Amino acid sequence: MPVTLPENDREHLLEEMRGYLVYATATLAAAVEGEMIEVQRLAEQVHPPLERARILASDGPSLAPPMAEQNSAQAATGGHRPNPGRFERMRRNLPQPFRLMMLQMREAIADVGRDALAHNDPLHSLRQLQRVQEVCVACHNAYRLEAGQPDAGSPPLTGVGRP
Ligand code: HEC
Repeated sequence: MPVTLPENDREHLLEEMRGYLVYATATLAAAVEGEMIEVQRLAEQVHPPLERARILASDGPSLAPPMAEQNSAQAATGGHRPNPGRFERMRRNLPQPFRLMMLQMREAIADVGRDALAHNDPLHSLRQLQRVQEVCVACHNAYRLEAGQPDAGSPPLTGVGRP
C-alpha cells in the first residue's frame, strides 16, 4: 500500500528508519558481547519515546499541549528537535494501522530495554530483538512511501472525490 507524505516528512521518516537499522545492529552487537547496560541504553534512546509513539498511534483531537511539553523536555535533554507541526501531520497522514505497527515496534523495543538488566540474559534480549525485527518486516511488506501532497483529514473541496 502506498502512503503519501510531503517530501520533507518522507525524508524524515526514512532517516528514522535508518536509525532503526543502526539500533538493531548495535543491539545485536551489544547482546552478543553481553553488554547489557548498552542494550538498555540503546533501547532508551530510540525515537520516538514510547509515550510519543502512543500519542502518534491514537486517533481523535489534536494533542498539541501535551506534545509541546514533551517537545521541550526532549529539547532540554538534547534529543530530536521539537517539531509539533510534523508530528500532527504524521498523525494525520499515516494510516492508523501503520501508526499502530510503529507503536508495536516501539513497545517491543521498550521490552528489550526493560528486561536487559532485570533478566541479564543476552539470549533473552536477542529473542526480544527478533520480535522487534518481525514488526520491521511486517510493515515493510505492507507499505511503501511516496512523496506527494497528501490531503488526508481535509475532505475534497468539490465533493467529487480526489483526482
Ligand atoms: C510501521 C511501519 C514500519 C516499521 C515498523 C518499520 N519500517 Fe522501515 N520502512 C517503512 C517504510 C514504509 C519504508 C519505505 C519503503 C519504501 O518506500 O519502499 C521503510 C524504509 C526503511 C529503510 C530504508 C531507509 C531509506 O533510507 O530508504 C530501512 C533501513 C528501514 N526501513 C529499517 C527498518 C527497521 C530496522 C525497522 C525495525 C526496527 C523498521 N524499518 C520498522 C516502514 C516501517
